[in-house]
Amino acid sequence: MKIALGADHGGYELKEEIKNFLEQKKVEFYDFGTYDTSLTDYADWGIKVAEKVAQGEFERGILICGTGLGMCLTANKVPGIRATPCYGVFSARLSRKHNDSNILVLGGRITAKGLARQIVEEWLTTEFDGERHKRRLDKITKIEIKYSRR
Ligand code: RB5
Repeated sequence: MKIALGADHGGYELKEEIKNFLEQKKVEFYDFGTYDTSLTDYADWGIKVAEKVAQGEFERGILICGTGLGMCLTANKVPGIRATPCYGVFSARLSRKHNDSNILVLGGRITAKGLARQIVEEWLTTEFDGERHKRRLDKITKIEIKYSRR
């Protein structure tokens, strides 16, 4: 699996930690930035990763800002993206089993590094349950289609 990574200044430090973790786990990734702690706007990085995942160039993405909230708002504007903010292992597991999360969103100012590693591991290794959850996700797709008509 190939992961697209992105962060703003509030998520930069945790992104570097997650990169080390992915390297250890031999998970392929590409870092779309930001590349230091200079002030930036989360939407600029969130859109890069969301588009790569929506276009199928990357199977999944991980986005990190201070709280995870701005990245989540941004990424979920892109049709086909199911970005889920996860602050614990349980939500990471269910974000995959029930929501087929394709972008994991973390809060660099909220989640400690050790916990973030556990969250990423859980999210990477948990499969989507399908069945009734697929029916629910199909309803979200219908909403996307309805509001993408201009
Ligand atoms: C940046 O200060 C901060 O607002 C951003 O990282 C994020 O937490 C927004 O949702």
